[in-house]
Amino acid sequence: MTQLEAFYTELQKFFQPLWPGEDKPLVLGEGNDKSPQLMLIGEAPGETEVIKRRPFVGKAGKNLDEFLTLMEMRREDIFISNVVKIRPTEPGKGGRTRNRAPNKEELALFTPWLMKEILIVQPRVLVTLGNVPLKALTDPKITIGDCHGTFLESKAGIPLYALYHPASIIYRRALLPVYQADVLGLKEALQETK
Ligand code: URA
Repeated sequence: MTQLEAFYTELQKFFQPLWPGEDKPLVLGEGNDKSPQLMLIGEAPGETEVIKRRPFVGKAGKNLDEFLTLMEMRREDIFISNVVKIRPTEPGKGGRTRNRAPNKEELALFTPWLMKEILIVQPRVLVTLGNVPLKALTDPKITIGDCHGTFLESKAGIPLYALYHPASIIYRRALLPVYQADVLGLKEALQETK
């Protein structure tokens, strides 16, 4: 068993009994866990991610493909995970369930596990998608609008590069060129320090 597998076994043992009677499957990280160049960190899995038990395979996953194309990387080159590893939901219209932002309690429960996950994977750079992972790994006062496309020091001691969340680009099309420029900025920075 690898160190990461042992860690995920421990994580599952901790979280599975927390919500008795509720169906809250865990979506764990995946990819290159041996000091990859990048570890991508999202907010929390959505509906498709829970069905497939894999991070970033739904709508946001399409945007991830665009990120990978711009970076000239393959999905298996990097490690992909989320801060919160269950799908936060609330009742929606017509008895349906919809996504919501993770709450304080979920963030407090999952963030220490994310820190351990990062220290096991040991990426060269952390790439956060949106405010949730950015705030969890830096300072709650920092917001993505102020620091997207820049490097920050993370609480894990590994440089962090902040990107907008893929979902915000789907809803705010004007952000697309900004996002693309930020991704190319990351690519150049990685090439310079090779
Ligand atoms: N899918 C994920 O796995 N994480 C997100 O933050 C969004 C979609």
